[in-house]
Amino acid sequence: MKKITIIGTGYVGLVSGTGISDFGHNVICSDIAEEKIEMLNSGIIPIYEPGLKDVVERNVQAGRLSFSSDVAESIQSADVIFIAVGTPESENGSADLSAVFSVAKTIAENLNTYKVICTKSTVPVGTGDKIINIIKTVAGNNAEFDYVSNPEFLREGAAVNDFLRPDRVVIGATSDKAFDILKDVYRPLYINETPMVHTNIATAEMIKYASNAFLALKISYINEVANICEAVGADVQTVARAMGSDGRISPKFLHAGPGFGGSCFPKDTKALVHLANEVGEDIRTIQAAVEANQSQKSRMVDKFIRLLNNSVDGKIVSLLGLSFKPNTDDVRDSSAIEMIEGLLSLGAHVRAYDPIANSNMKKRFPLVEYVDNWQSAVKDSSGVVILTEWNEFRGLDLQELATLVKEKIVLDTRNILSMNELYRLEFTFDNVGRKKSDR
Ligand code: UGA
Repeated sequence: MKKITIIGTGYVGLVSGTGISDFGHNVICSDIAEEKIEMLNSGIIPIYEPGLKDVVERNVQAGRLSFSSDVAESIQSADVIFIAVGTPESENGSADLSAVFSVAKTIAENLNTYKVICTKSTVPVGTGDKIINIIKTVAGNNAEFDYVSNPEFLREGAAVNDFLRPDRVVIGATSDKAFDILKDVYRPLYINETPMVHTNIATAEMIKYASNAFLALKISYINEVANICEAVGADVQTVARAMGSDGRISPKFLHAGPGFGGSCFPKDTKALVHLANEVGEDIRTIQAAVEANQSQKSRMVDKFIRLLNNSVDGKIVSLLGLSFKPNTDDVRDSSAIEMIEGLLSLGAHVRAYDPIANSNMKKRFPLVEYVDNWQSAVKDSSGVVILTEWNEFRGLDLQELATLVKEKIVLDTRNILSMNELYRLEFTFDNVGRKKSDR
């Protein structure tokens, strides 16, 4: 059993710390944000992540998981320290590493015994070397530590399962001792024969960017295919299904939609482009995926305005779903943002409902009217747009919708509604890459 400290209690830090304690280790999740630690110590989970609360409680009760804002002490008592702080996008598209470097300095200042220092935050290739340099500069060349890159592949909304049952674990370590220690941290997975990729630090860092950017590319690709489907009368759902049944392609991440959002794909694709430029290389495919994603978001706004006969001013319009995907309250880079901006700028009265993301979106757009259920959102509306495929919208009662709205106009950006039902109820509708109604 190892003594582990995770620094940073965001999605990655909290889920990873909790998961590692569930593997049987003693874990301290540490953060300088005292209010977050106070919440955690009183049993409140500061992020929305399905299933996380149960696993936190189970491990706190077993005495394996605790929370502390004393970062220095948490570092001193650990064998392995994970850096899991944020790496937001900076103004030029590169990753802002100030929090990572600041943590590295704090670790160096508290390096009292040999420790494995391991980065989970998504950081550009070469960051490992910079962290090693910071630690050596502060703690001296004889400081006893090994550095490891151990990127995370958690999806918000499914993060607990992704951590406990990963497709692979990537360990970028040049020292065998450090690799063995990390292998021991992930021992239960090792026994279950989860593939462990043991590689060098730069390769581990690259695996994370290459994976995220590839998934983003897949989404932009199917979105552009969807747009062509619209022009030629093809159905993108069927195209994607048939493509996906080819094992070389796989059906995952082939759902056409309003463009990808969230805290990872938009930021990581831009960071990879930035990295490529920095080293004098091109990554035109990802550059194109970023541009296609931006157009896809604007395209949704244009589609909706067209459905409303180009007349939006003064009309009530309803947005169903605000988060960038279901099962999260995260609205970062959500396609709802472009939609709200577009509609507000044209003078619409925007009414919105999301099962859990209303309050996050309200911080950004206080002028939108937020309501507590979809029925209130669509009442007397001149147009409804579905932006997130929450289960409750998948099962939307279209008959009821038809009786509540002022005009039967729907844009389904997630392709979740039954087109037959929409036809039958005489809706004017559009979607992404499928047949739309005749108007
Ligand atoms: C993503 C990756 O999937 C994780 O493996 C990775 O660990 C994480 O980023 C990260 O770097 O931390 P996440 O951003 O939580 O996870 O969400 P995804 O489920 O990947 O969805 C991202 C966006 O793509 C969403 O807006 C979603 O609606 C969109 N999407 C996804 C599509 O439009 N179509 C699809 O087929 C799949």
